[in-house]
Amino acid sequence: MSKPWFEQWFNTKYYHILYKNRDFDEAELFIDNLYNFMGLSNEYVCDLACGKGRHSVYLNKKGLRVLGLDLAAQSIAEAKKHENGALHFDTHDMRDVYKDEKFDVVFNLFTSFGYFDDQSDNLQVLKSVHQMLQPGGRVLIDFLNAKYTVANLVEDEVKEVEGIEFHIQRNFNGSHILKNIQFTAEGKDFDYTEKVQAVSYDDFNRLLTEAGFKIETTFGDFKLNTFDEEHSERLIIVAKKQDGAN
Ligand SMILES: C[S@@+](CC[C@H](N)C(=O)[O-])C[C@H]1O[C@@H](n2cnc3c(N)ncnc32)[C@H](O)[C@@H]1O
Repeated sequence: MSKPWFEQWFNTKYYHILYKNRDFDEAELFIDNLYNFMGLSNEYVCDLACGKGRHSVYLNKKGLRVLGLDLAAQSIAEAKKHENGALHFDTHDMRDVYKDEKFDVVFNLFTSFGYFDDQSDNLQVLKSVHQMLQPGGRVLIDFLNAKYTVANLVEDEVKEVEGIEFHIQRNFNGSHILKNIQFTAEGKDFDYTEKVQAVSYDDFNRLLTEAGFKIETTFGDFKLNTFDEEHSERLIIVAKKQDGAN
């Protein structure tokens, strides 16, 4: 059986080429806002599904001890170039518990959730995060606002990056937002489909509660404006591990 899409696509160099123009200023502004809102100073935090570590590096620059984890070995190899005494990276599947470490906060940033075919895996991610947190620790999930995203899907797009023409088609199949990406590079044709479950606020609330969390706050964008399911681009959730849970 072939590997699931997220194990293949995120581990290609073409994924990094397509998304190379991600807005770093916006990412840093987001971290600045979260850092202030969450009252952080010298905590030990995990950047779960960290990619090449852009948020991890900045969180560490702000004085936090950081462990970045991601399934994509190529991304972790890149991220490791930034390592220092208080910044480390490792390959890891977010469904599993990263043993022997307890964090004050686990971040899951930039739509790094809802990738699995088996719905129980979403719950498994949150249960593992729960075990990786100190008592009273918090998880921060930065996800797309499914309702807004589905209502505003750009169905067809062509994007040229580094001389590669990426043909992108998006659609919603009733449960997942699908983004098909076709391109030709180095004489070969490629065809990948990102598949993200349209997890709503209510879905998160149910999953987080079942995993032993209570939602404390939600925001609707990187500036931390209020979440509004009709109009917000993002669904950003801060949830706290409940007392009495392990
Ligand atoms: C949309 S990217 C976001 C990366 C990073 N947070 C950022 O903002 O640049 C999603 C990331 O999730 C990672 N990922 C996918 N499935 C994973 C899994 N099962 N466990 C850990 N990481 C996973 C991918 O390798 C990819 O780096």
